[in-house]
Amino acid sequence: MKEKWREPMAMVRIRRGSAADAAFVREVAEQVFGELGDYGRILPTWLVHDGVLTHLAEEEGVAVGYTMLGFYSAGPTRPNEYVADLLAIAVAPRAQGRGVGKQLLDHAIGQAALARRRMPVAELRLSVAEPNGRARRLFEQFGFQFVDGEHGRYDGGQRALHMARPVKP
Ligand SMILES: CC(C)(COP(=O)(O)OP(=O)(O)OC[C@H]1O[C@@H](n2cnc3c(N)ncnc32)[C@H](O)[C@@H]1OP(=O)(O)O)[C@@H](O)C(=O)NCCC(=O)NCCS
Repeated sequence: MKEKWREPMAMVRIRRGSAADAAFVREVAEQVFGELGDYGRILPTWLVHDGVLTHLAEEEGVAVGYTMLGFYSAGPTRPNEYVADLLAIAVAPRAQGRGVGKQLLDHAIGQAALARRRMPVAELRLSVAEPNGRARRLFEQFGFQFVDGEHGRYDGGQRALHMARPVKP
């Protein structure tokens, strides 16, 4: 059988995002999340939110993707715990399929583990649209498991699935 041709693995540098990255964040959100809702408008507001940690992946100085990580209380039943929420992970369409998403996800998991040194972060959560098999496979590869229950729908009508994995020190 002919071996599947693969693009070479991307060499990326991951750095903190800032307000200066708003145009890139908006453009990629419109491209990759457009079917889910108005994320081209929403994500730039999260970029400048104090409670959201944004990281940009760059290849030779050019932005190719980003993650947004939020932290909040685990809720009334777990008053002394926090959860980290991967609010967004996105790779520009031209840079997809070359390992950027994996490197960004690995980095976000590392950030949640770092945060655990300062506060009791029990788990890392995320939401993914049911039809997004590609992202679901990626998250499963990194140890995320589906959380039971109904979690609503995106504005585009897609069912939202929740996934979570423990945060290890
Ligand atoms: C999901 C996403 C972040 C993955 O980033 P990426 O850089 O394309 O992914 P990678 O190259 O690191 O590949 C990671 C895994 O994704 C899957 N994948 C990558 N390219 C794929 C393709 N062309 N077809 C199917 N699966 C693919 C594979 O499971 C791959 O693992 P493998 O290399 O062991 O087979 C990216 O595709 C994206 O931004 N998608 C749109 C936004 C989105 O869906 N975000 C997640 C929901 S919030």
